[in-house]
This record gives sequence, C-alpha cells and structure tokens, in this order.
Amino acid sequence: MTDLFINEQLSGATIEPEVYGHFSEHLGRGIYGGIYVGEDSKIPNVRGMRCDVVEALRELKVPSLRWPGGCFADEYHWKDGIGPKESRKKMINTHWGGVTEDNSFGTHEYFELCEQLGCKSYINGNLGSGTVQEMSEWVEYMTFGGLSPMAQLREQNGRKAPWAVDFFGVGNENWGCGGNMRPAYYADLYRRYQTYVRNYSEGRRIQRVCCGANVDDYEWTQEVLKACFDHAPAEAHGFMDYLSLHYYVHPGGWDNKGSATDFSEEIWYETLSKAMYMRELVERHSAIMDTYDPEKKIGLSVDEWGAWYDPEPGTNPGFLYQQNTVRDALVAGITLNIFNKHAERVRMAALAQMVNVLQAVILTEGSRMLRTPTYHVMHLYRHHQGAKLLSSSLTGAADIGGRYSVPQVSESVSQSADGTVNITLANLSATDSERLRVHFAAGGHTLAEARIVCGESIQSHNTFDEPQQVTEQEFRGCTALGDALELSLPAHSVVLLRVK
Ligand code: AHR
Repeated sequence: MTDLFINEQLSGATIEPEVYGHFSEHLGRGIYGGIYVGEDSKIPNVRGMRCDVVEALRELKVPSLRWPGGCFADEYHWKDGIGPKESRKKMINTHWGGVTEDNSFGTHEYFELCEQLGCKSYINGNLGSGTVQEMSEWVEYMTFGGLSPMAQLREQNGRKAPWAVDFFGVGNENWGCGGNMRPAYYADLYRRYQTYVRNYSEGRRIQRVCCGANVDDYEWTQEVLKACFDHAPAEAHGFMDYLSLHYYVHPGGWDNKGSATDFSEEIWYETLSKAMYMRELVERHSAIMDTYDPEKKIGLSVDEWGAWYDPEPGTNPGFLYQQNTVRDALVAGITLNIFNKHAERVRMAALAQMVNVLQAVILTEGSRMLRTPTYHVMHLYRHHQGAKLLSSSLTGAADIGGRYSVPQVSESVSQSADGTVNITLANLSATDSERLRVHFAAGGHTLAEARIVCGESIQSHNTFDEPQQVTEQEFRGCTALGDALELSLPAHSVVLLRVK
C-alpha cells in the first residue's frame, strides 16, 4: 500500500509549457513523409503539412518545436532551403542514411508548421560548420522587419512580415557531432556566435540556448558556465537563457540497444531504471548551475530525451525508425514526472523525436497514421503545462526490479489556474498492481476526471492494422474515501487524476 500526500498550500515553480516540447530533425521520415508531404501529395495536406498529423499534434498542445536538428543542424546551410523549390540545392544527408535532401522543407515551411501547430519556434543554428555571418544573417532573415538585405530576400521569397524566433540554439552537441570540441573552445565560440544573434524586434527577445552536456559530463557544464555565465553587461539581457542537456535511454548500452518490441521483464526494469537516472542527471547538473546562478536565471533545457532502440528490422538503419510500446509510455511518464518535480530549473525539454524517429508520438506509413503509447501519455500530461507544481510525497512504495531497482510508483502533482489539481502516476511494476491512497492537506476535493494508459502487456503497441491496442481510456478504479481517494494502480500503467 502506497500513500501519496499532497499539500495544496505549498506550491512551487510554474511548470513551463515548453517542458512538453518536441523535436523534429531532417532525419529519416521525421519530416519528409511524416509531417511534410508537399502540396501536390494525394495525402490530405494544408500547404504541404499532413492534416491528420497536424490535427493529432494540436490535441497534444505542442508548446514548442526544435528544428532542423540534431546533428543535422551543424551541417545545415539555411540558404539552401529558401526560394523556389525547384532550384533549391540537393544535398546528401551525411548523418542520416546518406539519402538526398532536396531542401523542400526549409525556413518558410518550418514557420508554416509552427503556425499550424500553434507552437513557439526553436531554431537550432549551425556553429559546427557554419560561419558567424551565416548564423547572423539567418536571424536577420527570420526576424528583421525593416529594410535590410535579408529582410528584402525574405520578401522576395513571399514573406513580408518577420517571424518570431522564440528560442535559438547556438550549436548542437558540439562535444560530438557538432564539431568534437572541448568545453573551453566551445565556450569561446558560444560567446562569439551568440553576440550576433541580434534582437531585432522590440519586446521579443530571442532566448539563447547554449550547448550543454552529454549525459553525465559534469565537467562540460562546469567549464561552459565558468566561461559564459553572466559575462554580458546587464543591458544585453544575459548571455544565455538556457543550458541544454541530452540524455537517451539505451537499455543494453549504445552497442546493444535491443528491440523496441521484443524484450524481457529484466530489460523492462533495466530500461525504466535508466529512465529514472534522469533525476540524478538533472539534480547534479542543476547543482553545478546553482553555484553560478543561485537565482536560477537560466533554465536547463533537456532538449533531447527519450528511448533509443535498434531500428525496426527491414528499415534503413540511418532512419532511426522504432516501434513504441507500453514500456515507452512508462519512460515518458517517469521522465515527465521528474521534469515536473524539478520545474524550478528544468524549464524546457524536447522529446526525441516527434514523428517516425526514436520515441515518436506519431508513426506514419504512406497515408496511414497511428498515435503511439507515448502520444497518449503526453496527452494525459498536457494539463501540467503552465500549472504550478504542488508539494507531494510518497510513502510505503517498495523498490522493485531486483538488480535494476526502481521505485514502484512515480508521481508528480500540479495545480492549474482554475484550481484543478492534476496528479500523474506511473506504476513501474511489470506484473503487480498497487493500492494507493491519495491524501490532501486541505481536503474537500472531488474527482473530476480519471484516465489511464495501460495495454495488455508490457510489450503491447499499436500497429497500422491494430492502432488501438494501447490508448487512453477512462479509469474507473478510483473512489472517494472520506477526504482521500483510493485506487488500485494497475501494473505497467500511467494514470491521470484531476480533482477539483
Ligand atoms: O536524435 C538523434 C540524434 O541524437 C541527434 O541528431 C543528435 O543531436 C543526438 O545525438
């Protein structure tokens, strides 16, 4: 029996909507085919964007979308992706499968997509192989509203008004695919490149994201902050707004990631224990950030997270296309609970990736589309966006999983502006349900909504022929017990309770 104590009078930071952000790279069918099919496609589309996919994503309330990479970003030359499509440069996507990139999805198409999704823009600039001038001109092209060469070029290409760039990443994984740099070298380049990420429109400052660490590279965090944090004069409004962190769950390690659908109970626990490791990563990187930035002026942006398995048999290995099971629903539930509970510092994140790549929320095959278990969890958790974190704690939950020890229950609680309390719970057990009692310090609440994502087995997943194997359902197992709520949390499930 587990008890969950919630104190509605003790609220913490706001859970920034961008913690529920997404990432789409020019990788496999992440964009081409998955989102963008072109205006002439038989697949119903609006200005080239698939209607079915956009509609499903709108239901998730996607807050922000990071683009064009990933590793692709540090090889992307934005001028290849503007102007008449027939004259856009064709190039090789060297990182991802060696396929031809025809640049038919470029800056204009990206902003069209953001508009259709109703989300904020997060552009990742090229520091690894691009020049300062190129980066600075891209910012001018996108955001300058007056008379200038780049603003005129934008107008020639059919767009008079500037767009809003909300977030701008100054390089991606520059410790690896973004140039194999050492932290002090990147830090100097960051200082230089970000200088030319100009704020052209009054009142709309571009928030700069500095490339942070790979997993547990605490030295990178330390060195980059030492060189970059708070070196700008106050009127420049800060040197960086976010420091990123990338972490993927590979069950058996990088060389033995394993199948997305065919795995044992032991691998289930190994995967979930690796998802739980996000807590330590966030806390240790945050502790270093605290030494430079005790006022928490900058946010941690976990802008690549998710599970990474072997590609589906028979698919191009460079496309990173993988299925998505109940295990992924749990990875998402656990990770998002960790982010919520660290809302003071984790102020942005991006699931990798949105469609057809890694832990996607949507998979497509020709004109068909399915929502993955991860989609359904993101849908349950959308209520946390913009809500206030509430103090909550668990007692009584046992650790399970043997050598891959994990707590049986993971939770986070928030309060929406209208007073509704959102409780998200994950039962990590592959086999056992857990009785749970929810106690409220202020009492007097009634259950308004209860939803569950579960599935028959830990390997359950949706296919194009059977897309409803794992869906979001009404959860009927929760009852009032005086001022408390009591429920039996089914094995391998993620549950949302909303109380008023
Ligand atoms: O998401 C796939 C790749 O993983 C990204 O391109 C890169 O940034 C990371 O290593």
